[in-house]
Amino acid sequence: MLSVRDLTVSLGPETAPVDIVAGVSFDVAKGEILGLVGESGCGKSMTSLAVMGLLPQPGPRVRAGRVVLDGSDVTQLQPWQRVEAGHGRMAMIFQEPMTSLNPVRRIGDQIAEAVRVHDQVSGAPALARARELLELVRMPDPAMQLSAYPHQLSGGQRQRVMIAIALACRPQVLIADEPTTALDVTIQIQILGLLRELCGRLDMAILFITHDMGVIAQLADRVAVMYAGRIVETAGVDAVFGSPRHHYTRGLMDCMPVRNAGAHRLPTVSGQPPAPGTIRAGCVFAPRCAAAREECRATDPPRIAVSQGHQVLCAFPLNGGGPA
Ligand SMILES: Nc1ncnc2c1ncn2[C@@H]1O[C@H](COP(=O)(O)OP(=O)(O)OP(=O)(O)O)[C@@H](O)[C@H]1O
Ligand SMILES: [Mg+2]
Repeated sequence: MLSVRDLTVSLGPETAPVDIVAGVSFDVAKGEILGLVGESGCGKSMTSLAVMGLLPQPGPRVRAGRVVLDGSDVTQLQPWQRVEAGHGRMAMIFQEPMTSLNPVRRIGDQIAEAVRVHDQVSGAPALARARELLELVRMPDPAMQLSAYPHQLSGGQRQRVMIAIALACRPQVLIADEPTTALDVTIQIQILGLLRELCGRLDMAILFITHDMGVIAQLADRVAVMYAGRIVETAGVDAVFGSPRHHYTRGLMDCMPVRNAGAHRLPTVSGQPPAPGTIRAGCVFAPRCAAAREECRATDPPRIAVSQGHQVLCAFPLNGGGPA
């Protein structure tokens, strides 16, 4: 459904571009959830905004690569141009629903507005569809909530409203950028469950962005691990958790509290990711990698297929617990 190839997003002048997303490739199929995970600043949001055609202007731009949606190249098109051209539809939800909702308009009107834009209906039919969408996202008492204002809802309910607005365009691809990070754990589990259910029911492809490996374990079918603008490992969730091959992935997993229950202090991945523009030759992770060799600092790492559907960007990948 969604195919991203060698996507490169850059800042600065054409003659001296600074890549904040460097050659990212992944696919998401219908009915599948791909988790994109990585530390703050690694380029997850820039990747998702570039895929949506919503990069902030002026600023970062797509310098290379392709975004193919349902067979059509939509790389340089904005979302409404894609719809006008008859291409597939994508929608996006964000971390903080309050900033996306209008505080002085009723929930029903805000969802109906999205329905009006996409279905060319207004008035009672639009409100009826808004109610249907609230039912779809399992909002308690949807008829009553239509007339509520955003501040009258809980954080979890507001996120359900945002999902309802996103679903108004009947998206084939839903991009969720940290939609549960601001929610408490029990509500987070409910929203993740809802997204899983909607993915199957509506046969959508979901790209789910998070910095939390625990969320990936709960929700995703496959995972792409991002570091300094690159995807360093891609695999099915079971393969990644059972046998991570990239040293960075392993580091992220060691930081998970559940996997280190009882540890006196949780391990961390020491050091900082490189700032865009400071990246030199060799593996971007080498300065923080305990297993790095001279070769890692000198030459770019190869992308190795360690098994069917499992790729790693590393010259010396882990092999079931230790360096190969
Ligand atoms: N509007 C912008 N203009 C220029 N640089 C930006 C802009 N937004 C982000 N950046 C830079 O691009 C890089 C990638 O940022 P991005 O927001 O994609 O990271 P992220 O992985 O989503 O992080 P987080 O987990 O904190 O949301 C960072 O180095 C950031 O400083
Ligand atoms: Mg982000």
